[in-house]
Amino acid sequence: MIAIGSDHGGYGLKQEIMEHLRGKGIEYKDFGCYDEKSCDYPVYAREVAKAVLSGECDKGILICGTGIGISIAANKMKGIRAALCHDTFSAQATREHNDANILAMGARVVGAGLALKIVDTFLETEFSNDERHIRRINLIEE
Ligand code: RB5
Repeated sequence: MIAIGSDHGGYGLKQEIMEHLRGKGIEYKDFGCYDEKSCDYPVYAREVAKAVLSGECDKGILICGTGIGISIAANKMKGIRAALCHDTFSAQATREHNDANILAMGARVVGAGLALKIVDTFLETEFSNDERHIRRINLIEE
């Protein structure tokens, strides 16, 4: 189960991502926002982060205008490793090296075509489980 959330700036791209996930038979839960009315991204960052931390969802996707505010907010929650990715190389690397549990993107930064490839890469790439990466993640979590 994938937790997904956005503010108004990310609402349109979130709709496209949800349609993409439905097409692939991937289950998701939409934590809002639910329209393009101006709203506050930390609210949705927190809801998605809580769903990931509780185990209700395996991973999360967060979208705002830039992806910056919503990733900063999510990373305030202990145990969340939210990676802001606007290319597939970063999406793959952050799963392999950082075991990132949330993907953040900016809807005003990437087009939908690239965003969907980034989503696929993020969801399909496993953590490497290398000792050095586990050690570094543990240092983050201390
Ligand atoms: C909203 O206008 C915008 O500030 C927000 O979507 C995001 O880019 C914040 O980092």
